[in-house]
This record gives sequence, C-alpha cells and structure tokens, in this order.
Amino acid sequence: MRVDPGATLISEEDFLKFQEYFYRKTGIQFERAKRYFVDKRLIERIEATDSPSFRSYFTMLRFQASGEELQLLTNLMTVNETYFFREAYQFECLVKSILPELTARREKGLPIRIWSIPSSSGEEAYSIAIYLLEFWKGLEDWDIEIISSDIDTKILDAARQGAYSARSIQHLPARVLNKYFKRTAGGYQIGMDLREAVEFTRVNLTEPADTRGYRNFDIIFCRNLLIYFDELSRKRAAETLFDAMRPGGFLCLGHSESMSRISSIYKIRKFPEAIVYQKPLEAR
Ligand SMILES: C[S@@+](CC[C@H](N)C(=O)[O-])C[C@H]1O[C@@H](n2cnc3c(N)ncnc32)[C@H](O)[C@@H]1O
Repeated sequence: MRVDPGATLISEEDFLKFQEYFYRKTGIQFERAKRYFVDKRLIERIEATDSPSFRSYFTMLRFQASGEELQLLTNLMTVNETYFFREAYQFECLVKSILPELTARREKGLPIRIWSIPSSSGEEAYSIAIYLLEFWKGLEDWDIEIISSDIDTKILDAARQGAYSARSIQHLPARVLNKYFKRTAGGYQIGMDLREAVEFTRVNLTEPADTRGYRNFDIIFCRNLLIYFDELSRKRAAETLFDAMRPGGFLCLGHSESMSRISSIYKIRKFPEAIVYQKPLEAR
C-alpha cells in the first residue's frame, strides 16, 4: 500500500518528539541540519510498515513489544563509515607501547581482552587482529580475546561476513591484502581464521542492560562514536567504558574526540605514537 504523501509529512513538532525519543534510546543527537537525512529514513519505514501517518508509525515504534521496528530504524539511521587501518597510529601504539607495558605487569594465564566498540562492518577489529599477527611477538605467549560490538544488527552481519569493497581496503599494503584476504567477484573477503578470531555482538553503549555483562577489558577502542553523542551521553559513555575496564586498562578514542569527564576519571598517557586514556591502576 502507498500512503498518502500528505500524511507522511513530518511536522516540526513530530521531528522534535522523534529526536528526543531516538536520543533517549541511542544517545545519538540529530541536529536540525540532519532533518533531511532523518525524514527520508522515517518516510521509508512509514511506507514499509504501511503506517497511515507519522503519528501511527511513532506509536507503533514506541510500544511494539519486540522492539523489532526500532532496531530496523536504528540500522537505517546509523553512519557506518569505516575502513581498514584507519588512524593506524593507535594500532602502532597498541603493539609498540600498550601491550609491552601491560604484559610486563600481568601474570601469565589471564587472557588479554580487547573491545572494539563501535565495530561497524568490522574493519577496526580485524585491523587490530592483523596488527597483532604482523607486529606483536607476544602473540606466542599470550591469549588474546577480541570482541567487537555495535548497535546496528545489519552492519554486524556484514562484519561477520567479512566481505569488503576496494574502498575499504585501500590503505592496506598489498602484502597484507594478499596474505589475509581472498578476491571475490565483488571485492575482497577476509580469511576464515580472522573471522573466527573476532566475536561480534550487538550492544547499545547507552543501554546499561546491554553493557552490564561487558567487564574486565584491558584495552578498549571507542573511535568515531562519541562525535554523534551530546555532552551528557559522552559523559555516561566515559563512565560505562571505565566500568568495563580492568584497573590499568587503556582507552583509545577517535582523533577528534575528547570528553571533559575523561580528564577527571582517566589518566592521560602520552606514548610516542598516540595519546591514550588509562583507568588508574588503583581504581576499582
Ligand atoms: C562511524 S562508525 C565507527 C566505526 C569504527 N569504530 C571506526 O572508527 O572506523 C560509527 C558506528 O557507531 C554505531 N553506533 C551508533 N550509536 C551506537 C550506540 N549507542 N552503541 C553502539 N554503537 C553505536 C553505528 O551503528 C556505527 O556503526
């Protein structure tokens, strides 16, 4: 059924209601300048669900017990831009500074846990795995767990699939590409060993019920997510990530991201390759 185009017009009042609701559910703050982007996706879902108006769609979105429609809409609203070896100086820092420091004080036997959130289509988590394989001798002596999470279930399926376009792999040296990927009709697919080395899970970083089970991480990469959050969501995210880390754990943010709360609860560590935030060793 096609809905009456007049009925799908989203008024300013409707937009503000939706903006507030979506912010509460995801931490993502849509500026007014994003109206076209938001309206387009809302109208797509209003039509796909045969809803006669924005109002009836919005009621269904809020009260649907399964939450399925909210997930589908969230999948449309997220910005999944990422690529292999993005901001690679932090991966350098991981293998040259962070891991040597961490392993020097860590008793053997306990796995080193790394969390990449948000994962998007998996390039960040797989880049970490490739850096470890290529540049970190410690891999022979230490067990590493890599978990990668995102709010977007569709992009997580893509991450598990590990199939990439030429654009996504363009910063990879040819040697690395040949070693870890196979060519496919549409582009490149990362090898099975690496796909099995990373666990992909759905997590909304702003939902305490989702993050409660995520604990004891030694290193967290949280890059290019906080830019979509407002100051309050950033502050809460800083605290959630703090709770998810072991004392002495390290946090890597995107290059344009900082948050005031970070400076009060984390220690700033200036390594030769990058600035990283650390949960103090004496913290609980
Ligand atoms: C631009 S990508 C960043 C990917 C990667 N970390 C990087 O830096 O290349 C942003 C991702 O954040 C995810 N995202 C947005 N809100 C989220 C939330 N509340 N919890 C978890 N992930 C979220 C989106 O689905 C999207 O895949």
